[in-house]
Amino acid sequence: MEKFVVHGPCRLEGEVYISGAKNAAVAILPATLLVKGKCHLENVPDISDIRAYCKILESLGSKIEYISKNELIIDNSGVTSAIASYELTSKFRASYYLLGALIGRFDKVQIGLPGGCKLGARPIDQHIKALKKLGAKVVVRNGNVYASKTEPLKGANIFFDVVSVGSTMNAILAATLSEGTTVIENVAKEPHIVDLANFLNSMGAKIKGAGTDTIKITGVKELTQKSSYSIIPDQIETGTFMVAAAATKGDVLIKNCIPKHMEPITAKLIEAGAQVDEFESSIRVTMDKRPTSISIKTMPYPGFPTDMQPQMSILLALGDSTGTIVETIWESRFQYTDELAKMGADISAHGSTAIFRGVEQLYGAPVKAHDLRAGAAMIIAGLVAEGDTEVSDIHHIQRGYENIVEKFSKLGAKIDCITVEDKDE
Ligand code: EPZ
Repeated sequence: MEKFVVHGPCRLEGEVYISGAKNAAVAILPATLLVKGKCHLENVPDISDIRAYCKILESLGSKIEYISKNELIIDNSGVTSAIASYELTSKFRASYYLLGALIGRFDKVQIGLPGGCKLGARPIDQHIKALKKLGAKVVVRNGNVYASKTEPLKGANIFFDVVSVGSTMNAILAATLSEGTTVIENVAKEPHIVDLANFLNSMGAKIKGAGTDTIKITGVKELTQKSSYSIIPDQIETGTFMVAAAATKGDVLIKNCIPKHMEPITAKLIEAGAQVDEFESSIRVTMDKRPTSISIKTMPYPGFPTDMQPQMSILLALGDSTGTIVETIWESRFQYTDELAKMGADISAHGSTAIFRGVEQLYGAPVKAHDLRAGAAMIIAGLVAEGDTEVSDIHHIQRGYENIVEKFSKLGAKIDCITVEDKDE
């Protein structure tokens, strides 16, 4: 089993390049199934979720040409199967986009239930609601989702009970090739939703309103590749490096990012005492004092993203008084606070609220990465701590961060990746 050993404390300084957005790429890859012929994708992040997706697409009959680790040409003209095994789909969350992508093209679809970070119950009732509204029959049984149709999907009005990124993505995928007009309301507005719509529109889809509360889709007969498509920079990777720069009282220029997408994080970093300078496609973060304790409430975009609260918690753990995080999206996203307590943090987490009584210093300790973003938070904690922090279960981190050790090392971090005997073996 591999672990990271983070030698602290250190001050991050220099430039870092942001990779393509994981949560956009894992929707755009299955979206290529809607396109007749080839799709040329650029700025694809080289992460394990993407490699897992490519494996699934190839199992369906896709031909994938790897121009480089970040550039793919996917030819789905030979896709003949609409069955994705639970063994492959359970490795990550976004495999459920295959439902929306395949039901327009096949009359019978079988997709293994998804996996993903353990953040509490992760229902898919809204995904099913959307597909049924469009005319599909959907059944969940023995670890699979079965979707079927006897005639082409028809446009419908869909009003989501909750704001859901995944359901919004799946509804867009299923409605793109349906007959008639679909209006979807109470939708998610994250940058990756807009990126999926932009990708599909670049192939001839007619999707309006992505990024607003209402999305209107006029179904089209087919999509064809017009040009290559470059995936947007990753909002959460950008935020992760912004927080790491502030936590280590460093001076970091984050390049190839979209400052507009970072507004909720920028606002909170400034409140905590960081200096944030925005440029055309880069952001500079500097900090020279102990963080001011702040309060954070996670909300759907453009609110403060839930995927940034573990990373931000390191600033609150070191705050000059008492700060709070209220988590409104996931029932169980504070497991990482037990790990920070091993490093000397003083946190009380109950239900959806965590109270952080700031301490002067954290100390290195053996900690676990409970999930992808909590794992990134453990690295940041190790960077600010006195001594060595051993982070285990790093496979979570590698699902969503490309070359994270190399990127941090270029900024002055000292992180070793070691292999240890797995006790269970
Ligand atoms: C996406 O998950 C992201 N994953 C998550 O990021 C992120 O935390 C989440 O959106 C919120 O921004 C990907 O994009 C692959 P949701 P998703 O549907 O789509 C409830 C990361 O670290 N809900 O927006 O699964 C749900 O319980 C990951 O990159 C239903 O009730 O999240 C939650 O309370 C972790 N019924 C809320 O909606 C449904 O059918 C938001 O979930 C679907 C969701």
